[in-house]
Amino acid sequence: QKDAALAPAPCHVGIIMDGNGRWAKKRGMPRKAGHAAGAKVFREVVKYSSRRGVRFLTVYAFSTENWKRPAHEVAVIMQMLQHYLDDSEQYIKEEIRLRIIGDRARLSERLQKAIDKAEKASEHFTDLTVNLAVNYGGREELLHAAHMIAQDCSTGKKNATQLEFPDLEQYLYTIGQPDPDLIIRPSGEKRLSNFMLWQSAYAE
Ligand code: FPP
Repeated sequence: QKDAALAPAPCHVGIIMDGNGRWAKKRGMPRKAGHAAGAKVFREVVKYSSRRGVRFLTVYAFSTENWKRPAHEVAVIMQMLQHYLDDSEQYIKEEIRLRIIGDRARLSERLQKAIDKAEKASEHFTDLTVNLAVNYGGREELLHAAHMIAQDCSTGKKNATQLEFPDLEQYLYTIGQPDPDLIIRPSGEKRLSNFMLWQSAYAE
């Protein structure tokens, strides 16, 4: 049931899911507990977004920088992602179209398989698309696009001198999606930290 009585929700919301460590520290808990709480809130945000009629929700779950964290912390986050993706019953029931944005090549084979499965199982849903940014970086996304554009120009598929914004957008992970209207950083930090660099041009 949608909350029609409330003001219209933004079409695309981005969330830089930070502050988990600080949240845990304040309570004398391990960082792991902060991430677990973050993952729980993520599930609530998905439900709320769906209810409010948000069409696209992009969540920064793991950045290209995050590999520098202690191995056990990286493992915990990957495990939470795996768990979420494997729990297909949940997002199928909620009718969510799941997309994973970022470079998957560095993820474990098991996680890559779960990603493929989750995307396929949910691709027919149309109301809410949830982009989970995993091993994602905005600059990396643009560099990846540049590589592919260069390739398509060299084969004659694209004409380098005639490229327009929409052409470039065809090479981004968010192909076909509108730009975010609103980007939320729960910790209160006011930096973009390599999140959706191209797409955030007009975001609040
Ligand atoms: C940044 O906060 C958060 C992360 C690096 C990981 C976020 C990932 C999850 C909560 C798991 C994702 C799982 C699902 C299902 C979406 P921080 O640790 O940098 O906190 P701090 O800024 O207080 O140190």
